[in-house]
Amino acid sequence: MRWDRKHLLDMNVFDRADLDELLVYAEHYASGKQYPELCRGKILATAFFEPSTRTKKSLQAAMLRLGGTYIDMDDEEKSSRAKGESDIDTLRMLSGYSDIVAIRHSCDDAVAQFASVLGRPVINAGNGSSYHPTQTILDLYTIQKEKGSVDNNVVTMVGDLLEGRTVHSLAAALSNYDVHVVGICPDGLSMPDEYVQKVKYEERVIDMIDLDDTLAEIHPDVIYATRMQKERLTEEQKREMQRFLYIITPETMNRLPEHAILMHPLPRPEKEDQTGRSMLKPATWDIDTLVDDDPRAVYYRQAAYGVPTRMAVIATLLYAGDRTHSPNQ
Ligand code: NCD
Repeated sequence: MRWDRKHLLDMNVFDRADLDELLVYAEHYASGKQYPELCRGKILATAFFEPSTRTKKSLQAAMLRLGGTYIDMDDEEKSSRAKGESDIDTLRMLSGYSDIVAIRHSCDDAVAQFASVLGRPVINAGNGSSYHPTQTILDLYTIQKEKGSVDNNVVTMVGDLLEGRTVHSLAAALSNYDVHVVGICPDGLSMPDEYVQKVKYEERVIDMIDLDDTLAEIHPDVIYATRMQKERLTEEQKREMQRFLYIITPETMNRLPEHAILMHPLPRPEKEDQTGRSMLKPATWDIDTLVDDDPRAVYYRQAAYGVPTRMAVIATLLYAGDRTHSPNQ
């Protein structure tokens, strides 16, 4: 065990035993058994300085499922941030009203800096393009649940490997497992070395038009598709955007192994041109909605696993060192 259980800030805090324990807890919470007493009287504060649907809502749902409650930082125009309040002052107030704080911020080192002064356990809910630890725990849980184990898989990550914090986090976490990681990206969006130093990693820099051939050749067990991180692209990269985009279609799936699973942290952006498409099956980038009914497409279940895995994180941080929080009891 390596994690001090004070905060959850990046993926380097974990060893395999820490991850195994979190996944065991998550499995208990996923079992449907209720734990209304575990966090009774406890308050989670969610402070997201970047947009979010899944991470914020599943953290809040996790706290409710544990018998606790939450307060949320209002949107900028409705809070004192409209009066010019600094991020740290807002956070000091929220942490004074709560027992645990989840923060998302666009600056890579902001969450760790805030955690050093807030006096509460802090969950990094995404820091710039660096890490997204709770997403990674739910990603590991998804692979284990859907494939039987995280070990012994070829995990192929597709898309913006330069700026995507979900792939950075997952690659770093996979150094605790016996896996082979293959990155597929367009020229200019390669995975930074720091995230793959300790994992068996190879990268295919391709024209995204060749994605189907490349995937078929790799014969992956897990495909982890990601969104172009448009908000983090430079002006020059934005001009090149067209070159970076791709779509996994039913034809792509036809060429993938039967045992493979297709993951995505979501959201996947809608295309502008919706000609011939419906509200239920809009045209989208990354993964065409026509793939959603393929049994290998697990991304909606993946998102739902965000609740039990975040229950495991919250309970562990609030009751660090106190085994009475064990869902076994
Ligand atoms: C991801 C994020 O915020 O990094 N979203 C999420 O939390 N599921 C992925 C993304 O925005 O591309």
